[in-house]
Amino acid sequence: MRIQIRKWKLSDSAALAANLNDLSVLNNLRDGLPYPYTEEDAAAYITVMMHADPEKVFAFAVTLDDECIGSIGVFRCENIHRRSAELGYYIGKPHWGNGYMTVAVRLICHYVFTHSDIVRIFAEPFSTNLGSCRVLEKAGFTYEGTMRQNAYKNGNLLDMKLYSILRDERG
Ligand SMILES: CC(C)(COP(=O)(O)OP(=O)(O)OC[C@H]1O[C@@H](n2cnc3c(N)ncnc32)[C@H](O)[C@@H]1OP(=O)(O)O)[C@@H](O)C(=O)NCCC(=O)NCCS
Repeated sequence: MRIQIRKWKLSDSAALAANLNDLSVLNNLRDGLPYPYTEEDAAAYITVMMHADPEKVFAFAVTLDDECIGSIGVFRCENIHRRSAELGYYIGKPHWGNGYMTVAVRLICHYVFTHSDIVRIFAEPFSTNLGSCRVLEKAGFTYEGTMRQNAYKNGNLLDMKLYSILRDERG
């Protein structure tokens, strides 16, 4: 398989910026990322990920033949939710529709469940993000319900769908 997840390298900065500097990607993510998204922004993100607590942050470049085409991360929650973790991901638009993110989601779930005590990984795509919902379904996640008007994004109130996979459910 040409798709892999691997630790970030600073040399991924240009490729990360090229894939993220796109409103069709950013409009499906949480707020807080700059637009335009520069190579310096990418280098700052990669630096933070490289120094993050390895018990709490599982962040990887998504690579096609070792070239960064996207990003995927699982982030441990706090307090009583500390054995639960949130999944987030994106891939550059030229690479959409090839099954790549489904592979990456399967890989990161396997990694987290075998390298930590996390028992639940969840994701919260906008209900309108049919491609992301499909990725989660294909990767074995269970739809748990819809969080109504849970997000305010670009001037619109949006529903979010909640999906999860448990340690015992990995394929
Ligand atoms: C969502 C995203 C990660 C999907 O990555 P990808 O590599 O294209 O995903 P895959 O090819 O593995 O699977 C996509 C599936 O969604 C389907 N899909 C895509 N757009 C769709 C749409 N508008 N309606 C219905 N299905 C759709 C594809 O047909 C495919 O399903 P199939 O294999 O059954 O045909 C990518 O589009 C992306 O990065 N989007 C912007 C950022 C984002 O949304 N991140 C997730 C936030 S929760």
